[in-house]
Amino acid sequence: MGRLSSIFSLRHLLVLSLAANASLILRVVYESDKSSLNPVNQRSDALMAGDDATQKTHFSAPSPPPSVAGAAEDRVINLDHGDPTMYETFWQKMGDKSTIVIPGWQSMSYFSDVGNLCWFLEPEFGKEIVRLHKIVGNAVTEDRYIVVGTGSTQLFQAVLYAVSPHDAAEPMSVVSAAPYYSSYPAITDCLKSGLYTWAGDAREFNKDGPFIELVTSPNNPDGHTRDSVVNRTGGILVHDLAYYWPQYTAISAPADHGIMLFTVSKSTGHAGMRIGWALVKDREVAKKMVKYIELSSIGVSKDSQLRAARVLKVLSDSCESPSNETQPFFNSVYHIMAERWRLLREAVKHSGLFSLPEFSPAYCRFLNQSFENQPAFAWLKCEEPIEDCEEFLRSKKILTRSGRQFGVGPQYVRISLLDRDENFSLFVKRLSNIHL
Ligand SMILES: Cc1ncc(COP(=O)(O)O)c(C=O)c1O
Ligand SMILES: *[C@@H]1O[C@H](CO)[C@@H](O)[C@H](O)[C@H]1NC(C)=O
Ligand SMILES: *[C@@H]1O[C@H](CO)[C@@H](O)[C@H](O)[C@H]1NC(C)=O
Ligand SMILES: *[C@@H]1O[C@H](CO)[C@@H](O)[C@H](O)[C@H]1NC(C)=O
Ligand SMILES: *[C@@H]1O[C@H](CO)[C@@H](O)[C@H](O)[C@H]1NC(C)=O
Repeated sequence: MGRLSSIFSLRHLLVLSLAANASLILRVVYESDKSSLNPVNQRSDALMAGDDATQKTHFSAPSPPPSVAGAAEDRVINLDHGDPTMYETFWQKMGDKSTIVIPGWQSMSYFSDVGNLCWFLEPEFGKEIVRLHKIVGNAVTEDRYIVVGTGSTQLFQAVLYAVSPHDAAEPMSVVSAAPYYSSYPAITDCLKSGLYTWAGDAREFNKDGPFIELVTSPNNPDGHTRDSVVNRTGGILVHDLAYYWPQYTAISAPADHGIMLFTVSKSTGHAGMRIGWALVKDREVAKKMVKYIELSSIGVSKDSQLRAARVLKVLSDSCESPSNETQPFFNSVYHIMAERWRLLREAVKHSGLFSLPEFSPAYCRFLNQSFENQPAFAWLKCEEPIEDCEEFLRSKKILTRSGRQFGVGPQYVRISLLDRDENFSLFVKRLSNIHL
């Protein structure tokens, strides 16, 4: 903790930052009063198309009583967004261990830890983040600033704000190798910022000047382990490690990059808590990210952070001292993913109309065994003569996301594998029986 260099300068900073925050709060409260006269109900089409959580395809498919045999055969299965409801069963088994109660008078202040650069980070949550990374061995936390965000979605925006020069003649290019997470272009361009702009597939990128490359590993949608692809200086790398957990991929070494993003959504499955965290090496970058979150939401829900702290604690406890009732979290969900991939590959083979990515085994230093990636999504390719895979599967009442949204062609789709058992089983059964 070399950053707490001198108490003196810390006090100065503190006073300054309190003053700045107070005026900021006043301004934001005043301005949000004004805008509330004009209720905003227009959502960006781009974001609707891209974001996992916000893209809601509402289907009022008749839901038959579960007892009616055969009725399920006909039901629409929506696997378009990556809603991690699969994880509910583990947390149900944890019972009251992961329950917290927050009295009405608690967590009322805006501030959590005024001595910390990230003044809205709940110390308990910060502690559990460090503990979990130590146990799993998936990221270096020494000499890093932790910035908490409302999901890693907010942190992604905070990073863009923090690393783009604010006085440049033109916006900084943001790239990622295709197929890339469909939300990146949508979020990057939704406000038509003068600071940064989406520049597409990193492999095709040939513009001079500074750029931001998003490296998602394992990747959403195709599940491959990745490195940066733009081979030149002047680039800022942002590692989105939402899936760098042992249920999805072998943990070969602690990730040690300048900017790393994590989220509870895909690690513990608590997407609805809207909590993510960034591990940031550079103090100035961390400071600007904090600034962005001040501007956009004056911090991050304390209730959610306290709940996240408890969830991470129960998770870490389950790994360190498993008992009869509590299987270690990662072993438990690793087995669920392994079984789902086994069933999926079997169904694909049986049908003969599709193909899936292949992965090579790697040794996991956490689970002490070698295994292949078992991603949260199936990146499915429809073989000839099917041209539009999304449309084809929709005709079979399986809703997926088209490859087009990930920067590639319509012969691919992304399918969530994190739905509840019932829907997953129905899905593989239906897939297996599709023939032309
Ligand atoms: C690669 C990647 N990053 C970020 C997110 C969003 O995470 P959060 O729910 O924390 O905003 C997702 C969700 O699907 C994702 O796949
Ligand atoms: C299965 O999927 C349907 C449609 O997406 C959803 O309404 C339903 O709640 C799901 N069932 C379970 C058990 O999750
Ligand atoms: C990157 O470019 C340099 C030359 O500019 C080359 O020597 C090197 O092999 C390249 N690395 C990769 C990974 O392509
Ligand atoms: C664990 O299970 C064993 C055998 O089933 C039993 O004898 C023991 O009492 C259990 N321990 C706890 C803490 O429940
Ligand atoms: C992996 O092996 C190490 C060293 O033998 C051991 O401490 C650890 O508990 C093992 N991890 C798991 C998940 O079994």
